[in-house]
Amino acid sequence: MDKAEGKPAAKTGAGLEGVVAAESSIGDVDGVNGVLIYQGLDIHDLAEHSTFEETVFLLWHGRLPGRAELDGLRAELAANQQLPAEVSELMRRFPAGAEPMDALRTAVSALAFYDAGSRDLSREGALRTATKLTARLPVVVATFERLRNGKEPVEPRPDLNIASNFLHMLSGEEPSERVARIFDVCLILHADHELNASTFTSRVIAGTLADMYGAVTGAIAALSGPLHGGANTNVMKMLLEIGEPERAEAWLREALASKKKVMGFGHRVYKTEDPRSVWLRKFSRELGEARGETRWIEILERLRELMFAEKKLYPNVDYYSGSAYYLMGIPLDLFTPIFAVSRISGWTGHILEQYANNRLIRPRAEYVGPRGVPYVPIEER
Ligand code: ACO
Repeated sequence: MDKAEGKPAAKTGAGLEGVVAAESSIGDVDGVNGVLIYQGLDIHDLAEHSTFEETVFLLWHGRLPGRAELDGLRAELAANQQLPAEVSELMRRFPAGAEPMDALRTAVSALAFYDAGSRDLSREGALRTATKLTARLPVVVATFERLRNGKEPVEPRPDLNIASNFLHMLSGEEPSERVARIFDVCLILHADHELNASTFTSRVIAGTLADMYGAVTGAIAALSGPLHGGANTNVMKMLLEIGEPERAEAWLREALASKKKVMGFGHRVYKTEDPRSVWLRKFSRELGEARGETRWIEILERLRELMFAEKKLYPNVDYYSGSAYYLMGIPLDLFTPIFAVSRISGWTGHILEQYANNRLIRPRAEYVGPRGVPYVPIEER
């Protein structure tokens, strides 16, 4: 930027590709070597050893918690799960046919009405809001799922972690230990991903010193798009359409011939395998084998080989997650809301960071329209 004249000094690639738009210590993506870190810790170590709650603490505080700190965060999350009665009532009036991401976006925006501290952007105030949002997003998603099916919501259980509680609130049954752990790792894997489209959105909104509910509402809208978090649902729809592994090749060749984007492939940053997909592939296979339903992973693996051979494209995080959730019995249109249930930790981490060292985010556009156009009165047009 030529500051003196206030004009853009350098033109950027379409879609801000390659632009570094913020300094952050929350997470980093090394797209060449396929490495993802949260606050310096490798995603593989976290997936192996950590829990979602511990990851939330890490993203907000920049280090792993001690035992008392982790217990403290768990207790605060459990104490903040209940939705305000007004929001539960409002949700009863949502159309049963609403998109779950739209329901989530609307409910999160409404939550601000009933939080007297929503405008407190101090570190302590913003942390309180972050805790409420992280505790309540799973309850909102599960409540909507129950209500749209004509069922009463299942009360959240303060003794369960976020992963088990969410699955329990969906079905009314506590998940097996293994399924709960797989789901917990899925939440860890989706928690943060640097300046992805929804996180960037949340930082732009927070950068105006708007409240955290507003920033998260905008982030949910950004995540819902099929080029971002919406891809996981579309991958499962694709698998259902293909149906059998033998049909995968013909389906893909036709899709590529008609220049369709194949959901779950490609990434703005990764030019190699997304490290998260290593875990999600494993879970998809394990759950498929446990249920005697391996055709989804077989189709996925066939498509993966073909896409690499044809387009040199790798699967992204959305490629395997859908089939894993499907095998857990979760409805397709909840896959993206589940992404939000996890990513709330990264969004709020970034919003906390933005508030702590804020400068309004206001880039320039390169004007390519005409200038000096005369105003013609309406009668003469
Ligand atoms: N299927 C087929 N071709 C693809 C795909 C795909 N999934 N992804 C990229 N390509 C091709 C493009 O057609 C383009 O080819 P060209 O240069 O011959 O025109 C080239 O690869 C570059 O693709 P762009 O769309 O320009 O890459 P961009 O960085 O803008 O987009 C994106 C990245 C949006 C993820 C893209 O790969 C895509 O649309 N993928 C499918 C949707 C998806 O899976 N989204 C989830 C992403 S992960 C996440 O947000 C959680």
